[in-house]
Amino acid sequence: MKRFQYSDTLLRLPEQFFAKLVDKIQPYYEAGYDMINLGQGNPDQPAPDHVVEALQKASENPLYHKYAPFRGYPFLKQAIVDYYKREYDVDLDPEKEVAVLFGAKTGLVEVSQCLLNPGDFALVPDPGYPDYESGIALAGAESYKMPLNRENAYRPVYSDIPEDVLRKAKLMFLNYPNNPTAGIATPEFFTETIDFANEHNVCVVHDFAYGTIGFDGKKPHSFLQTKGAKEVGIEVYTLSKTFNMAGWRIGFALGNAEVIEAINLLQDHYYCSIYGGIQEAAAAALNGPQQCVTDLVALYEDRRDAFISKLNEHGWEVESPKGSFFAWIPVPDGYTSESFTEMLLEEAHVIVAPGNGFGENGEGYVRVGLLCDKERLIEGAERMVAQIDLS
Ligand SMILES: Cc1ncc(COP(=O)(O)O)c(C=O)c1O
Repeated sequence: MKRFQYSDTLLRLPEQFFAKLVDKIQPYYEAGYDMINLGQGNPDQPAPDHVVEALQKASENPLYHKYAPFRGYPFLKQAIVDYYKREYDVDLDPEKEVAVLFGAKTGLVEVSQCLLNPGDFALVPDPGYPDYESGIALAGAESYKMPLNRENAYRPVYSDIPEDVLRKAKLMFLNYPNNPTAGIATPEFFTETIDFANEHNVCVVHDFAYGTIGFDGKKPHSFLQTKGAKEVGIEVYTLSKTFNMAGWRIGFALGNAEVIEAINLLQDHYYCSIYGGIQEAAAAALNGPQQCVTDLVALYEDRRDAFISKLNEHGWEVESPKGSFFAWIPVPDGYTSESFTEMLLEEAHVIVAPGNGFGENGEGYVRVGLLCDKERLIEGAERMVAQIDLS
């Protein structure tokens, strides 16, 4: 018997699927096996030197020992809007259209608490990033899962959403380049999304966590580049992937002023803003040289090519990801996502993420993170193909 009863809100939270996976993996490490971990989404490269130096220098500034302004330092908000202007030619008001976040995850959970009531629906991609569901559960709302399939280029088909769901839908999450499918958006798809959002009065939240990671010379589109985007929603961006700053916890939401005000208001109650030294380092990353980003994308592309061509070489036909740092791989006949993941863990000592952990519609796939050295990735691919019969 527990002494303290958890609140209904806490009990509504979905199970953390991947926490279970970590428990399964641990004994293999303890037994000393040479494991190749392709299951996680944690960038393996360090943050750029000039960003680390900016933080070192900022740590000596006593101003940052004090509470930061609630909604972030103006210099950071200016750096954010300048970055979006330079990178995407999008105009934003630093005061009204920017919210500074403790990483994208925080904003993606908060926005549901800002806009949803019990009985409301949020439209979520399936498969998709699991934390959208966390915010929806905290708000006591429901989710409607929009299937992402290979046939639809991993984009939802809005005409398939039932009328009764549309009547209750207030929010929609999208994410391109996509985790876990590696699908990308087109400007036409974003235009279609804006039409849909206007017709049904749904707020669009575009999660642009992998915004810089596009391959084959194609830079991913920002949702805010599409005409009318700011009227219907926001984009959430993070420095975690673009600048390898996942541990630093810094991101931002941009776009519709009403939604941004709601996020800022909620955050006024939860936090004082992020440590000033991190804000300064984030501004250094956004304002500074972008060659580190170009190099990072080239590194992921090189890993992608090495990994995918190794599978293809052995007769395992796998689509080459167009963006993100994930490969979305159909499991061979006779396996489910989980049985294939377990077999690879036991027999190949390779860790992948089972697709069903990202939603029912992820069944039949596993996700591979391109987050270790090329040589290890090639070895991982070799160990994988050695386990399956491709004849
Ligand atoms: C699709 C997606 N959105 C958001 C996040 C969270 O990013 P952050 O580190 O900024 O919280 C991740 C992290 O893995 C992600 O994959």
